[in-house]
Amino acid sequence: MCGIYACLGNSDATSKVLAGLKRIEYRGYDSWGIAICNDEIEIEKHVGKISAIEKLSLADSNNAIGHTRWATHGGVTQKNAHPHLAQNGSFALVQNGVLENYQELKKELQKDDYKFQTETDTEVIVALLEKECGKTIDLEKFSRTIKRLAGRNTILVLTKTGEVWVYRQGSPLIIGQGERGDFYFSSDLASMSLDAKKYRVIENQEIIHFDGKNLESFQSKDLTPKQIIFQIMDQQALEIDKGSFAHFMLKEIHEQEESFLKILSKSEELFPKIAEKIELSRNIYVVGAGSASYAAASIVFNLRANRKNVYHVPAYDSADFAAIFNEKDMAIVLSQSGETADTIEAIEQMKTKGVFIVSVVNMPSSTLMNMADIAYPLNVGAEIGVASSKALTGHMLFGMALADYLENKNFSFKKEVEKFSKQLGEWFGNEKIMNDIKKIAQLLSQKNDLYILGRGQLLASALEFALKIKEVSYIHAEGFSAGELKHGVIALIEKETPVICLVNKLTREDMISSAHEVKARGARVIGIATKNEDIFDDFIELPQAEKFANLSSIIVAQLLTYEIALIKNLDPDKPRNLAKSVTVK
Ligand code: G6P
Repeated sequence: MCGIYACLGNSDATSKVLAGLKRIEYRGYDSWGIAICNDEIEIEKHVGKISAIEKLSLADSNNAIGHTRWATHGGVTQKNAHPHLAQNGSFALVQNGVLENYQELKKELQKDDYKFQTETDTEVIVALLEKECGKTIDLEKFSRTIKRLAGRNTILVLTKTGEVWVYRQGSPLIIGQGERGDFYFSSDLASMSLDAKKYRVIENQEIIHFDGKNLESFQSKDLTPKQIIFQIMDQQALEIDKGSFAHFMLKEIHEQEESFLKILSKSEELFPKIAEKIELSRNIYVVGAGSASYAAASIVFNLRANRKNVYHVPAYDSADFAAIFNEKDMAIVLSQSGETADTIEAIEQMKTKGVFIVSVVNMPSSTLMNMADIAYPLNVGAEIGVASSKALTGHMLFGMALADYLENKNFSFKKEVEKFSKQLGEWFGNEKIMNDIKKIAQLLSQKNDLYILGRGQLLASALEFALKIKEVSYIHAEGFSAGELKHGVIALIEKETPVICLVNKLTREDMISSAHEVKARGARVIGIATKNEDIFDDFIELPQAEKFANLSSIIVAQLLTYEIALIKNLDPDKPRNLAKSVTVK
């Protein structure tokens, strides 16, 4: 949540930050702002999305910092937008995170007669820094200030003298090195790839200082200097171009045709190591939040079929499982961004109990990747659409492939994935099926509620299906096990209530009887399967790869919700109130 972008030592800094903020806007789009320094600090900030802005009223500058906000403390107003200016005008500050002790510090500062102008926790950091440093920040004063900040906070401060002070605690920040002695800071790696060719991830509790020309680094604990060694960026993995697609979401949906095979590129090297650990472990926990949590549920299903002692742990509920964590256990942690606060906290908790961690993360060099004992790169390429698509199905496919390896101890699954990818490509090209999806999107766009039934391997798909519909097209959708139907949910069915049935070979019989039960109460039954059935009022045909119906039915959900969003004139890439990387709890 919230994104930081800064450019130092480049005469185009202002426009580079404007462009950089557009690339990290997916992290929060309530408001945005930029501060520059040309003798004095000047700030421009606005409520709303930065993507609509072509030109700033700010002048050019050598140093600029910017922020996109996902509001936590204080409403969505221009005043509450970052950067925040010190009352003595000596610096501007941006923050990504939450100051947990802000009330206590605010009271202390109010006693000293500080008059707060906003409702944000960020202004408390500004006031504290101003009280500690006066008009000039130095290393000791800066480190004294940050030691008082509780919670996951990453801050970046631009001073009137053109210096920059940075502190990372929790929320990610990366330094990039340009080719002309210029430097960049960004909350993610992909956004920097156009400006910088080399990068270095700032570590937790690390202070970075830019003196106007050079960078230096210090350990915040004892202020010992640290080295800054840059790595070369893998530009291809970080590409964030929409290509010929109207939206990132549509592009990323279509990319699934290729991403499934990419996921398996490290399987021969890493599956044997992961399998060995699985065999030796007492319990296996599969952890994730949001879509990654549904992927976790799907992986649990696959591993349980392999007789493994495996638990689904939604990251935000991990404390409820903490009593059973033990050093004989292992966890498989799923995350697109590798920066989700709930997931990081769950893994921190597990690590204190000695749990062995395998991460399956998409964003290279992210926090969760670095915390893992074995880091399996998901490798599906940058995912920019806020609602997860190719990363979610990628995680599910990872689980299917791993379960297959555990069972057969070979990599023949790759061949099946190759075949499925080919079928998927043909399916995307099938005009009739794509038109069926558009027609059903039209129908659903008129509805306020809809239900999705799944069973067995398709239960996690039904839950993810409902999430996609809620997130992107703002329709109330509930996914649940068809087994639950007659135990209560059926009371909700009225004439023409849409009920989507996800069907595969294994669950067909039970699903068809559930379809009859809802139909008898007036429901409109929409079947999603490889084969049409008499009971379906509407039908969307899946690619014939029956084994992968759990993935392809989610791809239908992605296309449906995308089409509904267009009909309702919504932005499918940036649904309201959401942010892609949820770095606060
Ligand atoms: C947010 C996004 C979801 C995503 C979840 C977990 O809620 O809106 O699409 O699934 O975060 O993110 P992660 O990066 O850990 O997969």
